[in-house]
Amino acid sequence: MIEFVSNTNFAPSNPKAENVGEPLHLQLGHKSEVAQPSYEEVFAKLDSPEIKTRIGHLLKQYPVEQGALLEVLWIAQSELGWVPHAAVKWAAQICRCSPAHAWGVATFYTMYKHAPTGRFFLQFCQNICCHTAGAENIISIAEKKLGIKAGETTKDNLFTIVRAECLGACGNGPVMLVNDDFATDVIAGELAMPLNVGLNEERLDKIIAWCKERAAKMPLEPKREPLGGVTGAVHGEPQTTDFAPAPPALGVKATAGENGVSIVWKIAPEVTVLAVERKNGKKWELIGNPSVKDKEFVDANGKSGYEYRIIATSGERAAKPSAVSIS
Ligand code: FES
Repeated sequence: MIEFVSNTNFAPSNPKAENVGEPLHLQLGHKSEVAQPSYEEVFAKLDSPEIKTRIGHLLKQYPVEQGALLEVLWIAQSELGWVPHAAVKWAAQICRCSPAHAWGVATFYTMYKHAPTGRFFLQFCQNICCHTAGAENIISIAEKKLGIKAGETTKDNLFTIVRAECLGACGNGPVMLVNDDFATDVIAGELAMPLNVGLNEERLDKIIAWCKERAAKMPLEPKREPLGGVTGAVHGEPQTTDFAPAPPALGVKATAGENGVSIVWKIAPEVTVLAVERKNGKKWELIGNPSVKDKEFVDANGKSGYEYRIIATSGERAAKPSAVSIS
């Protein structure tokens, strides 16, 4: 007997093992049948030169095409917002495997979504650590505040709530994900999960307000690059075909002072070259290559309001640029 267990279960509880004969949408945890776009509709969205380039890069990294299946499915999800059946078939064709195999993969890994969601996909962990720390209470507060039940989407299509199994942040329980980001609080205008700070009603209010404010300011959610992205050019050099993102510089912070702008960051030990860039008009300019052991770089010509980012390279592979920090 198979029991479907999925982080993207849209129903409040998992289907029972004895119910495997239920319609597919119920097996996948959806409350009602999901309208599936046709293959032609899906193909029209995925058949772009940019996606072809990305897939070309990906396929070169594996001895057989099937090895790229997870990432090809990711590309479909990032373009469509979810993985309809036709996208599974599309991925299977690219990866030269059977649609049944691709379907098994797409339904085994819980980060693939099998139904469209609202703009802010709120996944509340209901597993043991979060449960004992009050997850049920937080989930019912969220349901009340948004006027929907877990598994539903608000009428304005802004929020979908789901229950999820362990999200791997047990020490912070109860926790939630807002799209791809952990959030138990909002700090300095950003979603945050400070050490040992779990959700409570007050912090949940802040997170919901953050989402609403973002939706009001930003008509569309910026698209994420789930693979780190094929950056095309780094310092004017074409991206190598064996591209894989090296660990990016994290926590980049630029602070203006009397002697210019001080930029600090954190970096993984395998990084071999660091490049600090400053924005000049629409272009990014290289302003220095600190040693990988350095933890600070000072731009003596920097001023308040300048934008900075860091690009980390490991061997010949350059990561996507870090988040931008404004001094
Ligand atoms: S139990 Fe909730 S994150 Fe692990």
